[in-house]
Amino acid sequence: MNTPIGLFDSGVGGTTIWRTLVRLLPYEDTLFLADSIHAPYGEKTSEEIIALCEKNTEYLLEHNSKLIIVACNTATTNAISHLRAKYKVPFIGIEPAIKPAGLYSQTKTIGVLATQSTLRSAFFARTCQQLFDKGIHVIKQEGVGLVPLIEEGRINTPEMIELLEKYLQPMIEQNMDYLVLGCTHYPYLTSLISEILPEKVRIMDSAEAVAKQTQRILSQNQLLTENKATPSHLWLTNKNVEILQSFAPTGVQVHYENF
Ligand code: DGL
Repeated sequence: MNTPIGLFDSGVGGTTIWRTLVRLLPYEDTLFLADSIHAPYGEKTSEEIIALCEKNTEYLLEHNSKLIIVACNTATTNAISHLRAKYKVPFIGIEPAIKPAGLYSQTKTIGVLATQSTLRSAFFARTCQQLFDKGIHVIKQEGVGLVPLIEEGRINTPEMIELLEKYLQPMIEQNMDYLVLGCTHYPYLTSLISEILPEKVRIMDSAEAVAKQTQRILSQNQLLTENKATPSHLWLTNKNVEILQSFAPTGVQVHYENF
């Protein structure tokens, strides 16, 4: 089917998922919504997050999305069951990759950096319990303040480094050997984080898993495009076009839209 894959996030973070997705599915059209006017979702209640997810979903459906990727851990962990119950389109969600990290961990201690609303969700608590039952210790750290700085384009700044050191140091001291990036904004911090972490700590995110699951679901539902021409990629923001543009590779159209 030659209609776009829709994606949304509270802001620019979803573009980290988009990048991996288009590498795996190079002929698919995409339509990405950065709901930056409402970022951060991570400090909102589940009810507020659900309402924002409905708004984004309805916009993507009105623009013919054949499948929707909830490119946000906070939105997925708080709203995906609700979205699946309410709308017919297939949804792909993203959750912190603590299961694979727990599987590979030698020290049986992993860390997860994510938003407050993700770490406090019932959805995340269930996955955490499964790891606890297998003897894996999960250190949870809320990344308060990181998303607003990324949304302002202030990534390589002293404030960012100070926050990351404050959050990561206690996790390092507890002997974690995997750090899970549980927010789609955080892959933009990978090089700063690598400078703080000891070499033995591996960094993990879920982008690859999401892209593969999208390919699988499109194929199962016979929704893969038949097009072999250059695809169209449209990124929309309801806040600052220059900021979103600064994250966009060539070939992506970036516009303001009041969704
Ligand atoms: N990018 C989001 C996530 O994956 C949410 C960030 C936020 O708005 O707090 O959790």
